[in-house]
Amino acid sequence: MLQHVFQTSGKDFKLLEIINLNKSFKKGDYTLNVLNNFCLKVDDGERVAIVGPSGAGKSTLLQIIGGLDKPDSGSVVFNGDSVFDKKGRQLDRYRNSAVGFVFQFHYLLEDFTALENVMIPALIAGENRGDAKKRAEDLLARVGLSDRSDHFPTELSGGEQQRTSIARALMNNPKMILADEPTGSLDRKNSEEVFSMFDLMKQDGITVLIVTHDESIADACDRKIEMEKS
Ligand SMILES: Nc1ncnc2c1ncn2[C@@H]1O[C@H](COP(=O)(O)OP(=O)(O)OP(=O)(O)O)[C@@H](O)[C@H]1O
Ligand SMILES: [Mg+2]
Repeated sequence: MLQHVFQTSGKDFKLLEIINLNKSFKKGDYTLNVLNNFCLKVDDGERVAIVGPSGAGKSTLLQIIGGLDKPDSGSVVFNGDSVFDKKGRQLDRYRNSAVGFVFQFHYLLEDFTALENVMIPALIAGENRGDAKKRAEDLLARVGLSDRSDHFPTELSGGEQQRTSIARALMNNPKMILADEPTGSLDRKNSEEVFSMFDLMKQDGITVLIVTHDESIADACDRKIEMEKS
């Protein structure tokens, strides 16, 4: 099992520090400035909602925090280390193990069962198959899907698919979950079920950044950050 060693020194320690992040997209003759000197500090174990109108840059921000996209300037410091100073395998390890992603659409692999989908991040990280299977079974049990583990994604409801993708995001014991409208494509009942999974993360002390248009979800978080369209 992968272990993370996290700094615990000092009262002011923040798990995540985002400093003066700038990101623009060039399209033909014009430049779209999406993030302008964006700053944010997040405590270890905190659950932060990110809200704002369509096009405000919420997904762009999460992609950058997760190391999937690069800013034009500024830094993302996670557990004391600058994400964009990481290279090669270090950056891969950050993306695959330190953080877990949950998206609006689950992106489960259609040819694999729920159990296999949950195991994949651990297999990518080089964990042995037996250990990965055991942990994937435990995680599916935690999200209430033990009896669906051999179902393929098309044989799962929307809420079940999303709960499977949450189990997958938790597979490598991430310290932080980045969730981009995880309930965006679900009805109220499924949405509540999926959000209750984030309560499990809270109990485990996992830091969560959640982009949402759902006010009740945003209100249930420790803090709400409003992004504006520039
Ligand atoms: N690769 C890209 N090239 C050009 N423009 C882009 C690119 N990605 C995003 N944008 C633009 O950047 C802006 C911010 O996009 P982003 O997806 O971060 O918004 P968002 O806040 O997540 O919106 P929504 O709530 O609709 O998901 C949008 O206006 C979008 O059109
Ligand atoms: Mg978005």
